[in-house]
Amino acid sequence: MDSAALRQEAKSGACPDAYRAVRALSVALAAPLSDADATIQSMPDASPAKWHLAHSAWFFETFVLRDHVAGYRLFDAEWPFLFNSYYEAEGARHPRAERGLLSRPSLEEVLAYRAHVDAAMERVLDRPELAGLIALGLAHEQQHQELLLTDIKHALSCNPLGPAYAPAAPRFRQGGDGWREHPGGIALVGHRGGGFAFDNEGPAHRVLLEPFALAERLVTNREWDAFIADGGYATPALWLFDGWAWVRQHGVAAPLYWREGEHFTLAGWQARDPAAPVAHISYYEAEAFAAWAGCRLPTEFEWETLAAGEDPAAGNQLDVCAAVAPTGTAALFGDCWQWTRSAYLPYPRYRPAAGAVGEYNGKFMNGQYVLKGASCATPRGHSRAGYRNFFYPHQRWQFTGLRLARDL
Ligand SMILES: [Fe+2]
Repeated sequence: MDSAALRQEAKSGACPDAYRAVRALSVALAAPLSDADATIQSMPDASPAKWHLAHSAWFFETFVLRDHVAGYRLFDAEWPFLFNSYYEAEGARHPRAERGLLSRPSLEEVLAYRAHVDAAMERVLDRPELAGLIALGLAHEQQHQELLLTDIKHALSCNPLGPAYAPAAPRFRQGGDGWREHPGGIALVGHRGGGFAFDNEGPAHRVLLEPFALAERLVTNREWDAFIADGGYATPALWLFDGWAWVRQHGVAAPLYWREGEHFTLAGWQARDPAAPVAHISYYEAEAFAAWAGCRLPTEFEWETLAAGEDPAAGNQLDVCAAVAPTGTAALFGDCWQWTRSAYLPYPRYRPAAGAVGEYNGKFMNGQYVLKGASCATPRGHSRAGYRNFFYPHQRWQFTGLRLARDL
């Protein structure tokens, strides 16, 4: 976060209720999990639920309590080695791909760690000079809440019994079939101050838009079935060079978690709803589908410009512990993160913050694509029009989907 954003937050101080609510949701999301569920790691990209719980506590313990609270004592001096994610400034750490080997500490001990950190945090929530860091810690924890859900979904999908995380969540309505048109022109994008934003969302700057249209709804499972039936995964002309190599190398023939008429969900194996948005597609698949449909992916700036007047807290997003799933809404936000064709790059005049928190975003601005919106697993209130999510083009274990765009 840049210093201007830190100052902005500092004017108001952190909201103790917000801190307690975010921290409580993390614990609630782990409630359906046994210690064994919370310990396993199904692939290097995914982390154990227990690790997410501990790492988000480590973030507060390190960057708020250790660095700014005199006399604070670490819960356990050996644990930062386990729960530092990628902060080089914080020194050596346990290998990411081996987080699933951490059978100790137990889930119960990790929950005690969280309680220890929370008790210390309660004494500093009203300190204005810490408000910016606390806001960053809460936004960080919300990101890990989404990862906790997508990571446990992947882990459970690897179990031949197809266990459910929780009962199925309620459904929302589907949006319209039209297009939202924009005449183009010079648009101001990026964070303009007022409220929290990650450093990668700024500085605000101008971009030139050509006339374009954005679909009112996400691409559905029914449409994806038609793409498959039309030989979409067997037609190299539809694919980017790297995308076609990925299809061939991994034998990809459908979105992640699909088998015949079913897909794996947080409620276990379920029949696919043809009208629900397709999820768990890679950037490569999104590009190929758009080519097949005679359309293209939106740029991040087109998407942000149309979303600027929308309520970012609308739509199908995470409120409570549930087996969330994309179900279809009229909102621009929710259901699935939406791939854009925009490379994840620094905005003009972007500078990472000084110190370890400067490693949060900037060092990942290479080889990834921006996703906009929010998903059914994004905590409601976390995202906004200027939010920039980012993943590598082959990754698809997040709730990633597609909203088509076209030129006018
Ligand atoms: Fe993290």
